[in-house]
Amino acid sequence: MKAPYNHAPLEVIAGKNRQIAVFSTDGDNIEPEVVKSFGEEWLKFNDFSDETIAEGANEYFDILNNIIINKNSYVLDIGCGTGRWTKFLSSKVGFIEAVDPSNAIFAADKLLGKTGNVRLTMASTDNIPFDDDTFDFVMSIGVLHHIPDTQQAMQDCVKKVKRGGYFYCYLYHNLENMNWFLKGLFNVSETLRKVISKLSSPVKRFVCDVLAVVVYMPFIIWVRVLMALGLKKLAMKMPLSGYYNKSFFVVRNDSLDKFGTALEQRFSKQEVDTLMKNCGLEQIVISNGSPRYHTVGRKK
Ligand SMILES: C[S@@+](CC[C@H](N)C(=O)[O-])C[C@H]1O[C@@H](n2cnc3c(N)ncnc32)[C@H](O)[C@@H]1O
Repeated sequence: MKAPYNHAPLEVIAGKNRQIAVFSTDGDNIEPEVVKSFGEEWLKFNDFSDETIAEGANEYFDILNNIIINKNSYVLDIGCGTGRWTKFLSSKVGFIEAVDPSNAIFAADKLLGKTGNVRLTMASTDNIPFDDDTFDFVMSIGVLHHIPDTQQAMQDCVKKVKRGGYFYCYLYHNLENMNWFLKGLFNVSETLRKVISKLSSPVKRFVCDVLAVVVYMPFIIWVRVLMALGLKKLAMKMPLSGYYNKSFFVVRNDSLDKFGTALEQRFSKQEVDTLMKNCGLEQIVISNGSPRYHTVGRKK
């Protein structure tokens, strides 16, 4: 089911489990510091168990059905990172092209092991080496808000979807509908992010581990206590409540993801809808629940 690349790669590198074609990532719509930082993050955090992946996937993919993806689907995962979602979907679809511009592609090679129906490619949104209108399903999870022009990047992804195919993405929400306390906490965390993301890699990792212990864990433990007392509704209103069932490994990873990344953009539900519509998508579904906002639409 593999489509040929539409231009030649700069080189082909032998990964541990497969060959990886490398394309230029020198485009205008990419933030090199962000890409470098993610490469380092995912080379450190890639040991996800199938159980952990399934827990996350059940939340991300709750808006999909077997019309949107099925055993015949040819899929493109843009900004695949460790390839965890590619791994989850690989048994449910025909073939997946997983693409990332960073060294995370080598973490994906490791996590995916001998999975047969996947090809890995090093490339970015502004140089996706496949013809337009090729894929039944294109997805990009937690990627486009780390790219300078999110709308352009989304357009570049949607171009690769066949007419009648689907585009799925997850974009950070802008905290609309949150109370003043949560917004205040977020403003503090933004200031921290701007400082921490500029630190050298080992210092950044250390600081984010400390934050996982002294900031994330107290909130998470508090949420777990409320849940144990049967106060689920109240627990779910607490900061970081989405982590109540997550492992410490995931918390450390997300702390680095949150505080270690120099560029992130946030969108309201209305803005997500507009971004999707501007790309020629219809039948748009946007999640109300966490992770917010995950959305899917059909290409006209
Ligand atoms: C938060 S990670 C998400 C990884 C994966 N989708 C997941 O959810 O586990 C963002 C990923 O986007 C990739 N990325 C950053 N800029 C990109 C660009 N211009 N084109 C494609 N991917 C990009 C990074 O290398 C990184 O692996």
